[in-house]
Amino acid sequence: MKVCGSNCLSLFVIFSAVRSSVSLWDPDDHGSGGITDATPLPINAVCHMHPDAKSPLNVTGIITFNQTNEWAPLKINISLSGFKQFPPDTPDSELLHGLHIHHYGDVDNGCVTLSKGSHFNPLSMNHGDIADTVRHIGDLGNIKQETDGTLHVVLYDSQASLFGSISILGRGIVVHAARDDLGRGGNPGSIYNGNAGPRLACCAIVVTP
Ligand SMILES: *[C@@H]1O[C@H](CO)[C@@H](O)[C@H](O)[C@H]1NC(C)=O
Ligand SMILES: *[C@@H]1O[C@H](CO)[C@@H](O)[C@H](O)[C@H]1NC(C)=O
Ligand SMILES: *[C@@H]1O[C@H](CO)[C@@H](O)[C@H](O)[C@H]1NC(C)=O
Repeated sequence: MKVCGSNCLSLFVIFSAVRSSVSLWDPDDHGSGGITDATPLPINAVCHMHPDAKSPLNVTGIITFNQTNEWAPLKINISLSGFKQFPPDTPDSELLHGLHIHHYGDVDNGCVTLSKGSHFNPLSMNHGDIADTVRHIGDLGNIKQETDGTLHVVLYDSQASLFGSISILGRGIVVHAARDDLGRGGNPGSIYNGNAGPRLACCAIVVTP
């Protein structure tokens, strides 16, 4: 069967020319590595926080992830600013913010796509705290801001991982306005999402050198 006529050869010539010129446009197109089965350890990742379009606050900053191999704990270093400011004697409970990894990580449309999915929960567990055995992989508990509106917290987690088939790479992160009740709220929302209130900001977890 003839699929294309006499134009086939010229199409092939054009196609080949375009392909070979790719390397002229960008000699580094293929980089020097890439995440493959043979990727050298460790993996580093980053999440650049941007405020939710509906949030009155301008919460921004960076979360970095380091994990030396698939059995090592994941280090999560969170550096954010733009939270509400409080008087110095404010109780801790008012300074806590729920932090969750979400199933979807596409942030091209702000936090809208992330909100279409729930917490990253590949093992179908109830919602809990980062230190609980029963939790979503995406449950990172509460993080505490400073009264000046900044937040500097380092977490080590043994459930969320940058490796393997349930890696968190490519998923999203949401930081919430309120404290997460960690599944202990005694109402239906508690074992589902922790009632942590509106989204302040979100980001996508991506691989970095
Ligand atoms: C939000 O905060 C970032 C980082 O501090 C800053 O660069 C940006 O200009 C701020 N945006 C607004 C609208 O204030
Ligand atoms: C941890 O990851 C960050 C980026 O996410 C990277 O800049 C930093 O060098 C890494 N630290 C180590 C010790 O690999
Ligand atoms: C966390 O990151 C901040 C800056 O992003 C850095 O100053 C700090 O040393 C890091 N902490 C740890 C324990 O890696």
